[in-house]
Amino acid sequence: MTVLNELHQDHVNLNKLLAVLGYKLDKLKQGEMPNFVLLSDAVDYISNYADAYHHPLEDQMYAYFKDSGCPELDEAIVQCGKEHKQLKLSAEELIEAVDCILNDAVVPMDQFAAKLESFLDRQVEHLNLEEGTLFPLLDEIASDEQWNVLAQELPKMDDPLFGEQQKQRYIDLYSELLQDMQ
Ligand SMILES: [Fe+2]
Ligand SMILES: [Fe+2]
Repeated sequence: MTVLNELHQDHVNLNKLLAVLGYKLDKLKQGEMPNFVLLSDAVDYISNYADAYHHPLEDQMYAYFKDSGCPELDEAIVQCGKEHKQLKLSAEELIEAVDCILNDAVVPMDQFAAKLESFLDRQVEHLNLEEGTLFPLLDEIASDEQWNVLAQELPKMDDPLFGEQQKQRYIDLYSELLQDMQ
């Protein structure tokens, strides 16, 4: 599997989690309380997976293809780097807000809903930039040889269990989130 396919598969999974969280946001706006522990786990997972694996791979891939003579690509890469930092901040902010709720602090639900909404909007916007602009451009300009060289340079997962554990964690979370909405 090429790195681009692998990252794309991450996006597919992420998109599914975001869709369920979006549904929870709708319910929350209607006054229904989600399972906050589960919500916190989901945001935590999204953020940790991105930090530990997804963004480092993307950042290295973008660095490799930057300055290849395509200004549109370079611009998207710079934007992407900024967004990775913003995504981390908005996840931290949301996790902090969920923690407050879990610790029985008084958090107005409309404020919390606004935080969740901005987190989801940023995530979706970022997915759209990568899937809609960046990945197609890379697919167009990168040669097979470049992909091969890049694949050699990318870090190998030290712990093969990491991938499997993350996959299982994702499946569990996704089905728990679905069940919570019944
Ligand atoms: Fe991504
Ligand atoms: Fe990204």
